[in-house]
Amino acid sequence: MALAAISFGAIAKTPVYLDRTAPIEARVEDALSRMTLEEKVRLCHAQAKFSSHGVPRLGIPEIWMSDGPHGVRGEVNWNDWGYARWTNDSVTAFPALTALAATWNPEMSAIYGKNVGEEARFREKDVLLGPGVNIYRTPLNGRNFEYMGEDPYLAGEMVVPYIKELQKNGVAACVKHFALNNQEKWRSSVDVSLSDRALYEIYLPAFKKAVVDGGAWSIMGAYNRIWGQHCCHNERLLTDILRDEWGFDGCVITDWGGAHDTREAALNGLDIEMGSYTNGLTSESEFTFDDYFLARPYLAMIQKGEVSDSTVNAKARNVLRLIFRTAMDTEKPFGSLASKEHYDAAKQIGDESIVLLKNNGILPLDPAKHKNILVVGENATRMLNQGGGSSELKAKDIYSPLDALRKTFGKGVRYAAGYKTGRSLYESEEIIPQPILDSLRREAVEMAKTADVVIYIGGLNKNGFQDCESSDRREYNLPWGQDRIIEELVAANPNLVVANISGNAYAMPWLDKVPAVIQSWYLGTMIGPSMADVISGKVNPSGKLPFSFPKRIEDNGAHSFGEICYPGVEDASKGPRQEYLDDIFVGYRWHDTKKIPALFPFGHGLSYTKFNYGKPTASAKQIKDGETLTIEIPITNTGDKEGKEIVQLYISDEKSSLPRPVKELKGFKKLTLAPGQTQNASFTVTVDDLKFFDDKAHEWVAEPGKFKVLIGASSTDIKATVPFSYSK
Ligand code: GLC
Repeated sequence: MALAAISFGAIAKTPVYLDRTAPIEARVEDALSRMTLEEKVRLCHAQAKFSSHGVPRLGIPEIWMSDGPHGVRGEVNWNDWGYARWTNDSVTAFPALTALAATWNPEMSAIYGKNVGEEARFREKDVLLGPGVNIYRTPLNGRNFEYMGEDPYLAGEMVVPYIKELQKNGVAACVKHFALNNQEKWRSSVDVSLSDRALYEIYLPAFKKAVVDGGAWSIMGAYNRIWGQHCCHNERLLTDILRDEWGFDGCVITDWGGAHDTREAALNGLDIEMGSYTNGLTSESEFTFDDYFLARPYLAMIQKGEVSDSTVNAKARNVLRLIFRTAMDTEKPFGSLASKEHYDAAKQIGDESIVLLKNNGILPLDPAKHKNILVVGENATRMLNQGGGSSELKAKDIYSPLDALRKTFGKGVRYAAGYKTGRSLYESEEIIPQPILDSLRREAVEMAKTADVVIYIGGLNKNGFQDCESSDRREYNLPWGQDRIIEELVAANPNLVVANISGNAYAMPWLDKVPAVIQSWYLGTMIGPSMADVISGKVNPSGKLPFSFPKRIEDNGAHSFGEICYPGVEDASKGPRQEYLDDIFVGYRWHDTKKIPALFPFGHGLSYTKFNYGKPTASAKQIKDGETLTIEIPITNTGDKEGKEIVQLYISDEKSSLPRPVKELKGFKKLTLAPGQTQNASFTVTVDDLKFFDDKAHEWVAEPGKFKVLIGASSTDIKATVPFSYSK
């Protein structure tokens, strides 16, 4: 008996926090009860550039984080921004999230989250610092390429599957940058003010969807300030809205260097402080992690009774929950890296993202007929996964557009750079001497004279002041003399296809002279095969614009109210401040309401086939609270190629007590149709879809009256209108 007793007694009961069958909240409470105050405080700040503390004494592991939204960043040194130069951290470079948004296909978002999650898991990361859903407010924002466009509904619908599938790998999404980080100029200090209507109708919805529908396990505080307080410890943002209104149970993590005050950080909902004393990208100051705001200074404030230890218990609970959901999830998969499946996923997303803006019939180019092709433009060969800031990637492979076009159209494809840009990072930019640019341009124009077709692949790149973190673009036109190059190329050879790559809109003064324009994106590893397959017609383009292309920058809402509206004004004593005077009228909401036509509107994209929109049917002529309206519209592929069509549903409120945009996106469906096939696009309109945010009542309201459903192939190409009314 004694032996049995001894052996039984020797096998101590597994502590609840280590019992993976126990409910997670019980595990959190049990772990918390075993921790010292010092151990709780250490959970709340970094221990290295990309990791934060666990509780070694209890066998609770640290949290490992990594950029970024488009793939897992190369391994960074323990405590500086340098790369660790590992040889096993080359990854799949997935398309930038603007490209994902341009697919308008939530299935692509699910595929994306699954595949990037497998790579993060394999690289043993617990938090992937993405996706980003900041709204595209100005075409000059250096980081728009990382985000999902100008419309909160599209961004919200497209971010949810990414998060859900990512987190199935035991990797937390960290939705960023919460909130109102809509430009890079003065990003770490600008104090944004705006109406609650703009906040709730435009800038919060995608974050709310990510949290409430996506179940994001973490969120990243933005660098900027709102209402005078830094986002990373902003009481209204992190406590009133994120926790109280949305019920967020995840972890709030600063952007790197986003914390600035211990008391605010202690009291206003921040959980993990990362990257303090850095500019988030390149510089850091000499310090120990004990100098962090939520380190020694915080511990001292608690010990002196200046803040309650309930604050650190709340933080520790959120961090422990994150650890149990990720690092301590013993059931999580093992992931995989740079596999064929991941490359195929990147290709599939890229294929569906490319937008055919204009085509007089020159496209697609039949490889059997076109052998003498000239490719011009640096983006046909440039590694566009490097640079751009924290989302840069060490890709195992990048298949360039030039290589892919040569594979498709044969070795006869010639190449001329046409222009050249240096390699520059962040706030710097290498200027190429004009004589070099002139000779490159002349050479390309000369070669164009003897080609069948010229394919121009230019656009922007990830250099400072282009599509790049920590600086905004300085001009709306294409840089490096590209407008002149395109003008001279098309004068030398009218068979010119412009296939630009960028994460932002730009002016096209040459548009009327050019027979075809394709808008491509930073598609990463498979950029070449995706572009070549669209140009050759192997893939029928099906992407649509996730943001408007204004004709000129002055036509954009953020640029219509002076500097205070963009980029803001520098106040000597209080730092830069900004007022979103464009309010709720962002993107097509501005263009359509102010009747300022865009060059290419939100939701625009052509196909190599044609689609006919039939007569819509509606389930009712009016709806009341609790009822829904079903709209069906037959879509027919009247061409000779299979194609995908994105059918968009907008709601228009004929009369409202507060100003409203003339239309707002409230639904979209992407249909795949064989030649001659008809399918119904079916939508369910709810009363919630009719609401606007009444900032005086601080609630969403639907006002009785007349509305219209607008069914469109874009925000301006409205194919059918269905009037209906709403009554309480
Ligand atoms: C950067 C970026 C953020 C990134 C973080 C870590 O400053 O703003 O998106 O995840 O720091 O690199």
